[in-house]
Amino acid sequence: MANAAASDGIENLYREELMDHYQNPRNFGNMADADVSYHDYNPVCGDEVTVQLKMENGTVKEAMFNGKGCAISQAAASMLTEQIHGKSVKAVVAMTQNDMLEITKINPGPVRIKCALLALRAVQKGIIQYEANRANLAK
Ligand code: FES
Repeated sequence: MANAAASDGIENLYREELMDHYQNPRNFGNMADADVSYHDYNPVCGDEVTVQLKMENGTVKEAMFNGKGCAISQAAASMLTEQIHGKSVKAVVAMTQNDMLEITKINPGPVRIKCALLALRAVQKGIIQYEANRANLAK
């Protein structure tokens, strides 16, 4: 019983952290001179996110987002912008569903997992597109 109560307490803390990111999103807005800008949405619910990145020497120098949608999708985007700051392109592209679950500290279940992944997929697609454009320009 004591363990159940303790784990409830931790779950509540995590939920509070998620709600704080939803209500006070970090790195929210528009970046004027973004190298990467990618808009994505969940076709099932229409929730959306646009991620913008400034790149330098193969790393994410700055990350911002804006969007609208459910608490998980927007809080996950906020948390992700903090996590990828200073990370290499390779490391960001290699991030997985499990990484997002660790960052958000939630277990949203099979239906809501797409909410937690929306921003990560946008970041990854944006970076892949950016790298492909750079490779084409170098030809
Ligand atoms: Fe739409 Fe969460 S319900 S992304």
